[in-house]
Amino acid sequence: MTSGTIRFIHKNKVLSIHNPDPNETILNFVRAKLGKTGTKEGCAEGGCGACTIVLGELKKSKIIYKAINACIAFVPTLAGKQLILVEDLVSGDGSLHPIQKAIIDYHGSQCGFCTPGFVMSLFAMYKNYSFYKDDIIRDSISGNLCRCTGYRPIIDAAKSLNKISKFDFFKRNQQLSISLLKKIKLKSIVISNKNRKYFAPKNVNELKKILKQYPNSKLLSGGTDVSLVVTKERKDLDSLIYMNSIDELNYIKKNKNYIEVGATTPLIDFELFIKKYFPDFAQILKRYGSTQIRNICTIAGNIATASPIGDTLPLLLSLDSQIIIKDKDKTKILPLNGFFINYRKTKLKKGQFIHSIRIPLLLKSIFKAYKISKRIDDDISSVCASFNVELKNNKVKKIRVAYGGMANIPKRAIYCEKILLNSSLSDNIINKAKKSLEKDFKPITDVRASQKYRMEVAKNLLEKCFLEIKQKKLIRINT
Ligand SMILES: Cc1cc2nc3c(=O)[nH]c(=O)nc-3n(C[C@H](O)[C@H](O)[C@H](O)COP(=O)(O)OP(=O)(O)OC[C@H]3O[C@@H](n4cnc5c(N)ncnc54)[C@H](O)[C@@H]3O)c2cc1C
Ligand code: FES
Ligand code: FES
Repeated sequence: MTSGTIRFIHKNKVLSIHNPDPNETILNFVRAKLGKTGTKEGCAEGGCGACTIVLGELKKSKIIYKAINACIAFVPTLAGKQLILVEDLVSGDGSLHPIQKAIIDYHGSQCGFCTPGFVMSLFAMYKNYSFYKDDIIRDSISGNLCRCTGYRPIIDAAKSLNKISKFDFFKRNQQLSISLLKKIKLKSIVISNKNRKYFAPKNVNELKKILKQYPNSKLLSGGTDVSLVVTKERKDLDSLIYMNSIDELNYIKKNKNYIEVGATTPLIDFELFIKKYFPDFAQILKRYGSTQIRNICTIAGNIATASPIGDTLPLLLSLDSQIIIKDKDKTKILPLNGFFINYRKTKLKKGQFIHSIRIPLLLKSIFKAYKISKRIDDDISSVCASFNVELKNNKVKKIRVAYGGMANIPKRAIYCEKILLNSSLSDNIINKAKKSLEKDFKPITDVRASQKYRMEVAKNLLEKCFLEIKQKKLIRINT
């Protein structure tokens, strides 16, 4: 059964919108239609956090609170969720939420433009954790920019939350919110608004049928890439298929050979899971966008975007990952190596979708990855390097080296791998391997880095990797 009406809860009431515009952002909706102007627009591209709102999602009868950027999320994706805005934090009697009070008490606001966004990011943290350690606080506000107060008073305000009761208005009303979320349990959604269509299938079978009928539709997962077509390029997306409504694809499973990640699994869940198996993978993800971005974006979206600076891509390439691709009647398992064919072009054909990603569990390997960007948080890589090395009797038995930011696609360094394979890790070999990167890559100069800088950094990261291996210790500033 399908519906053209989306239903979500706001202030413990069910709101319904019939056939909303699939290209309208939640930010525009809350400001223009709900008249709630506390949520601000700064950059309109997910980079400043001024538009941060929180969505409550039901998971195993518990509400998970997710801070997201309302400027790059479309209205129909609200279906089945609890919408929480900065205005909603004030109780009926006018008393402020502990977070709002802490921001005032610790002087965490000056001009105030960024403040609602910080409050909402800290609200999600307050609800999801029981103790707020420094790294949790920093991570929670990594997607919020403040140009005047500075971050210390805001961090002090966040730390002060450790001393207060967690029993807020939302906790008091939790059972009501849960029962309402259960009541509006999702149907498949088909929206027709003028010439725009939007589908939110509930399962893979429905997805296949929609793709067969509308093969030119754009797949929408977290939307952290797709939405910018509307908000920045000012173009229309006439037919969208929302992947993240398919719970069946939101999974991470592991057997003795590999880890498999379903296409709609939020990156933040994968980040927590992968830490145990490939700690450097998790370290890179910590610096991937912001918490708001990782709460909704997916690896599948990162792969299909095929950006030369997509951060998961060199890592997945060096790990010999595979992707499972499906269409209406076939399933294909492809190695990621060779999947990227040109700048932002992949082997994916119309009517196909990424079902899942398989990452081999290379238990004998040493895996290392490094991201170089101008800022630690919420910044795009200038260069991202990833190494997967298996040693036997001090010789390289297997090697995979992959880089992002060095070519028009994320790419393995084949010449460099050839030099290292079956070699000892002498200075001479490492120097030869470094030199061979000049044969593998001809990087470009752009706003992020010059060609010379990129090549120098790529060589240095290779040297760093083998120094860390030889010295059996990490050479890092941020770990
Ligand atoms: C502020 C900001 C910061 C960012 N920081 C980083 C960063 O640090 N590192 C980085 O690598 N990226 C970054 N990005 C880019 C973006 O977040 C990633 O590429 C993300 O992984 C995209 O995932 P998504 O689920 O949001 O994809 P979407 O935007 O939904 O889709 C992206 C593309 O993939 C296609 N697609 C989606 N799902 C599937 C599927 N299952 N099968 C086939 N095709 C599919 C879509 O049609 C579209 O072409 C950032 C983006 C923003 C806005
Ligand atoms: S307005 Fe800047 S992140 Fe949304
Ligand atoms: S208080 Fe002015 S931008 Fe943060």
